[in-house]
Amino acid sequence: MNKIAIITSGGDAPGMNAALRACVRYAIDSGFEVYGSERGYAGLVDGSIVKLDSRSVSNILHRGGTVLKTARCPEFKNVEVQKIAAENLRKLGIENVIVIGGDGSFNGAKALSDNFGISVVGIPATIDNDLAYTDYTLGFDTAVNTCLVAINNLRDTMGSHDRAFMLEVMGRNCGDIALYASICGGAEFCLIPEVPYDIEQIALTMKENIKNGKASNMIIVAEGVADKNEIAAKIKNISGIDVKFTNFGHIIRGGSPTMADRMLATRMAVRAVEVIKEKKTNRVIGIKDNQIFDANITDALSMPRKLNEELYRVAGILAK
Ligand code: ADP
Ligand code: F6P
Repeated sequence: MNKIAIITSGGDAPGMNAALRACVRYAIDSGFEVYGSERGYAGLVDGSIVKLDSRSVSNILHRGGTVLKTARCPEFKNVEVQKIAAENLRKLGIENVIVIGGDGSFNGAKALSDNFGISVVGIPATIDNDLAYTDYTLGFDTAVNTCLVAINNLRDTMGSHDRAFMLEVMGRNCGDIALYASICGGAEFCLIPEVPYDIEQIALTMKENIKNGKASNMIIVAEGVADKNEIAAKIKNISGIDVKFTNFGHIIRGGSPTMADRMLATRMAVRAVEVIKEKKTNRVIGIKDNQIFDANITDALSMPRKLNEELYRVAGILAK
């Protein structure tokens, strides 16, 4: 019988469980035997691979995180360690692996395929939205929505005290969470790693804003942008404005997935199983213009990420 193993790997993301559930149920309905491996690649290496049935994935659709657990497993870059995982899969007669994770996890999948001939399919799941080949990754929508709830709360305080706030959001080297949160949360300034910024200009614009009746100012700054305390200190120096700093940190990585993430997870999972049924190998699943597609993993990983210039321009105009 054809067998599939599923792992969740890298940073957890809302929607991983929804994808796991849909993979398991659709694969079983298609006649596959399905296995789950715990803690990403670490579980494949130490042999924590268990059989799953439809009931194993009950009551997880709405839960953030991942019930399969996840881990960073840097030793998996070593081909000898990959060999142990490949042997563990072979012992169980498993030829296919679905990897639910980000670009690092996809590199691990590619290694399993290139070095040991295992058929792999990747489902993109990371709050960072940093994979160029797909419009969206699982977890991004939920993370931005969580930012918006927190921004609404901050706005109450900002408005009441006429204060300036700077808040940091995750995203590794990608500014998408910051950009989308800035547009939808109405931030006055958005600092992302993809675009150079001028602190002096920001400080002077804040002063001008206050003069023109915009009494509270919000700066959303992406994780990949240099020292936040330094930015706040420079603004104070130039303009005399005190900027309160809040880091949302891991708070935005958890939480019940939104409708958009549950739907995306389900559609991508179904496609991943279809790809295995069609005996295609080394594929990743993506979404472009609301159409689910699959692509070659090497091609997908080599696509350079581009900033959405249009959105960045709009963020600037609406902040005035
Ligand atoms: P994400 O998948 O969210 O980008 P990481 O970058 O931490 O998260 O990658 C997740 C895991 O994928 C790593 O801990 C490691 O086990 C595996 N991995 C990452 N890069 C490679 C690589 N070049 N070769 C093999 N495995 C890799
Ligand atoms: O990739 C998801 C992410 O949350 C990034 O935004 C962040 O840079 C990183 O993971 C944090 O990783 P960790 O939880 O291992 O500190």
